[in-house]
Amino acid sequence: MRFIVGVSGGIAIYKVVDLVRRFKKRGDEVRVVMTDSATKFVTPELFREISLEPVMTGVFGNEETAAHIKWAEWCDAMIIAPATANVIGKLAAGIADDALTTVSIAMTKPLIIAPAMNKDMFNSAAVTANLVLLKQRGVKVIDPSSGELACGVEGVGRLPEPSEIVEQVDKILNVNKKLSGYKIIVTAGGTREAIDPVRYIGNRSSGKMGYAVAKVAAERGAEVVLVTSSDLQVPPLVKVVNVESAEQMRQAVLSEYGTASAVIMAAAVADYRVANPSEQKIKKAEDTLTLELVKNPDILLELGQNKQKQILIGFAAETQTVEKNAVEKLKKKNLDMIVANDVTAEGAGFGVDTNIVTLITANEAKSYPKMTKIEVADIILNELENMLCKD
Ligand code: C5P
Repeated sequence: MRFIVGVSGGIAIYKVVDLVRRFKKRGDEVRVVMTDSATKFVTPELFREISLEPVMTGVFGNEETAAHIKWAEWCDAMIIAPATANVIGKLAAGIADDALTTVSIAMTKPLIIAPAMNKDMFNSAAVTANLVLLKQRGVKVIDPSSGELACGVEGVGRLPEPSEIVEQVDKILNVNKKLSGYKIIVTAGGTREAIDPVRYIGNRSSGKMGYAVAKVAAERGAEVVLVTSSDLQVPPLVKVVNVESAEQMRQAVLSEYGTASAVIMAAAVADYRVANPSEQKIKKAEDTLTLELVKNPDILLELGQNKQKQILIGFAAETQTVEKNAVEKLKKKNLDMIVANDVTAEGAGFGVDTNIVTLITANEAKSYPKMTKIEVADIILNELENMLCKD
């Protein structure tokens, strides 16, 4: 997500430093807009360092022209924290006399405010009426908590803790972080089995499906380890382990397996490898060349045999009797779900950005129409979330 955090001048500003850090840590992009009085508490430099983005403190003198409009367009939502009585009053009246209020008034995305001030200020007729008006206009308000206030008195007006603000923002925006706290191994790509130092036996898998699963899982908060033989662009916050052969993939997956909550094997693992790959490049000589192949380890089968609490999801790329074969694999490999697809169907399988899948568990089979691989990742992870939540 892309957030603009609007910071006005209240003592609770120290919590907003942590709020920005939290958003950044989980992969969100954050730009900060500060009021003049906010810069009296902390320097824009601090927010620039944490957000790794420019900080706006005025309507004029920004690198971009009409920056307030461009920033409002850039973000998915704006959060004003702390929102002082002054800023709340200006928002209610439609005053736009500084960077923060100008960006706010240009905002067409959700606007969330977290008021923080002394209890008498918060309970004043003006602030109360202004908040009612802002709510009527669709502004979301994160209520202040009660406790000891900066001025020493007890009462309502404290800015909630940063973790709570993040939680409330996610709830308001319907952001799904249900996989947070779970480690998920995802494999992707077709393995490459060496013939000699320059040649290999490969397959048509692009890795796109596995990368889509890794991307969406990370967005939903999972700790993702992507074991891949493909070299697509790694999604944000995903730990990548590059491998080539099935045996390397096996080693990489097994070394992470003990602490994993789930494994999603989207890789097209070669069933056979060359028995004795040549150490030197094989010279062109005879009219025929015979390669002896030996069976590769079945990684998923091994994971199924050594399953503790992990949820295992496999893929069945088939060219005939898709569902029947998939159900057999589900049982044989001790899987919780198998994603079956007919790779001969148009818009499904290798290389393309779409897929047509059936999700098969022990109890049911759900068939879906053609979807993007990101949408397929979404439905797979919805099922995984349900399975993990049953624990
Ligand atoms: O048996 P089949 O290769 O069709 O099963 C496909 C599923 O098993 C995929 O999820 C694939 O990643 C996995 N697999 C594996 N090790 C192999 C072959 C397939 O983990 N050697």
